[in-house]
Formats: sequence, structure tokens, C-alpha cells
Amino acid sequence: MVSELDFLDSALAAISSASTLVELDRVRVHWLGRNGVLPEAFRELATLPATERNATGQRLNRARDAIEDAVRKRRHVLEAEAVEKQLARKRIDVTLPGRGTLPGTLHPLTQARLRIEAYFLGSGFTIATGPEIEDDFHNFTALNMGPDHPARAAHDTFYLEETVLLRTHTSPVQVRALKRWPPPLRIIAPGRVYRRDSDLTHTPMFHQIEGLVVDQGITWAEMTGVLTDFLHDFFTDRLNIRFRPSYFPFTEPSAEVDLECFFCARRGCRVCKQSGWIEVLGCGLVHPQVFRQSGLDPDEWSGLAFGMGVERLAMLKYRIGDIRWFYDNDLRFLTPAPVASGP
Ligand code: FA5
Ligand code: MG
Repeated sequence: MVSELDFLDSALAAISSASTLVELDRVRVHWLGRNGVLPEAFRELATLPATERNATGQRLNRARDAIEDAVRKRRHVLEAEAVEKQLARKRIDVTLPGRGTLPGTLHPLTQARLRIEAYFLGSGFTIATGPEIEDDFHNFTALNMGPDHPARAAHDTFYLEETVLLRTHTSPVQVRALKRWPPPLRIIAPGRVYRRDSDLTHTPMFHQIEGLVVDQGITWAEMTGVLTDFLHDFFTDRLNIRFRPSYFPFTEPSAEVDLECFFCARRGCRVCKQSGWIEVLGCGLVHPQVFRQSGLDPDEWSGLAFGMGVERLAMLKYRIGDIRWFYDNDLRFLTPAPVASGP
């Protein structure tokens, strides 16, 4: 067996001359690895006379500790050198132009919806929801549009099956809410609705927010009050509003609300189809038949209901001349404050 001194000196010399981490590892394996010099020497101990075994064993232990220690220290030195080298190579050129950041923002329709919801939540309404795939009963029949009612034709419905359809408005949530919660109640129901429709002010999928208030003694004046207050809050710049008599089978009397066209200031243009006004919602007092369908007594209960188009309100608020831009995903359009653009 090599004498302890030779052994240790050559191991330490090899360690300190290792100039890379890979080389150091090779040296370590040579001396300390399973078939390395040290373990081999330990195995040879067994062949020594018993009198020498102890002393030699202790020397070997010391040698192994010294080698392990030297490897550890050399590794620290080499690791530090490697980091230094890498830092020296990687210089940051602070004169290069920056990449910039593109902060995300909420879609204008989301902004409009959140603002509408906040207004009604603040007025004591709660949010209700219903399915987008509806049945004929909730979308039509329970809303006083029996199988042969002509108003069904005006909805341009997407049918999935004979009696299953994509809801054409959020009004079926009225029916679901009446069945579920005993009056008095006060809900809004935001959601997607679908119709075969497409032009400057119509898309095949759009958003409505339904509103329903049921209590005793609800009047027409209360309904116009709720809606006028809301519109004044939503449009801080006070566009002209008009209630226009209209017809819905599930309300009586009924009206639609128009806002002055912001593009032409009522002179008539493409956006308002030369009428000077843009329709934003339908409303009315709940029809007695709707109460009866839900098992409520129309002599005891009265209600007001409305359904507003979120895209239309957002068009008017952000002055967007074509409803389809909401769905084009053009980043110039989807900026935090959408820019006014004419048709
Ligand atoms: C209705 O859908 C009724 N359910 C509203 C209602 C609710 C009346 C409760 C009475 C009581 P209307 O079809 O008019 O009504 O649609 C309501 C609003 O949705 C419209 O005023 C308009 O703002 C919007 N809207 C209708 N069709 C489209 C479309 N294709 N694209 C975008 N917005 C639309
Ligand atoms: Mg309408």
C-alpha cells in the first residue's frame, strides 16, 4: 500500500490543479468513488496483521477527511469562478431600446356590464342567472307567447331541437326567478342571448341585462323613475332619452327606450338608420298572465321589468359606430378608453 504521505500529497495536488468543475469531479471519483483509491485501501485493511490495522485505519480516515475537505473547498472556488466568468460574458447593453409592456384592460363590454351591475346592486337588486340553452316554455310560452303567437317570429331564433333553443332574450330568467323566490323581489339577470341578426347595431350574439321588480303597488311612474335614474347615472353627459310606446306579450303597458344618436345629434345617419335615435332597452309592467303562469295572483302582486342591450349602451357611452367592433379583437379598439369613431 502507498504510504499515507504520498497518497495524500498526490490527491491534494490533483485537486488543486483541477481547473473546471468537471475535472474536479473526475478527480473526486478517482480518489473517493466506489472503486476509487481510498475505498480500495480500506478494503485492503482486512489483509493487514491485526496489530497494524488500527493505526492504518485511523490514518486512512484522516486522509479521506482531508481529501473530502479539499474537494469541497476547491468546488466552492471553481463555482465562484464560473459565476464570475458568466457575469463577465453577459454584459447588459443599457442603450438598447426597451421592450415596453402592454398592460391588459377589461373589454369595454365588461366595463359597461360591471358598471351597470354596480348601479343596480347599489339599489338593492341581486343578480340572478339562467341557462343560455333554454326551452321553448321559458323563452316563449311562460312569457305569454303560446305556440302560435306571432311575436315568436320576430325573435329570429336559433333552434337546437324542436323545443330547445338558444335563448333570444334574458326574459326567461324572470320566469325562473318568479318560480324560485317568493315576492317581493328585485333582481337583475345579465347574460348572453342569441338571434339571427347582423348589421351596424345587431350581432348574432349579444348581451342583455334583465331587470325584474315584484311588489305590491308597483306603478308605471316607478318604472320610468328606475330607468331614468339609471340612464342618468350611466351617461354622465345626459344624452336625450325618450320612452316610446311599444308591445311585448309579457308586459302591459310596454315601452322601448331610445337615446339620442351621438353621431348625428338627431339629424339622421347610418348608425341610427336616419331616425336620430338608438334603441337601448325594452320595458313594461309585468303582464297578469306571467304572474299566473308562475302561480302568483296578479290581483295581489304587480311588477316592472326591463331588458337592456349592453352593446347598445356601450356603443353610446364609448361612441362606437359599429357594434361588430366589439368582437373583432383589434387592439387599437380595445384600449382602456375606446376612441370615438364615425361610420
Ligand atoms: C327584448 O328582448 C325584451 N325581452 C325586453 C324586455 C324585457 C321588455 C322585459 C319588457 C320587459 P328587444 O328585442 O327589444 O326586447 O331587445 C332588447 C334590447 O336588446 C334592444 O333594445 C337592444 O338594445 C338589444 N338588442 C336587440 N337585438 C340586438 C342585437 N341583435 N344585437 C345587439 N343588441 C340587440
Ligand atoms: Mg326592441
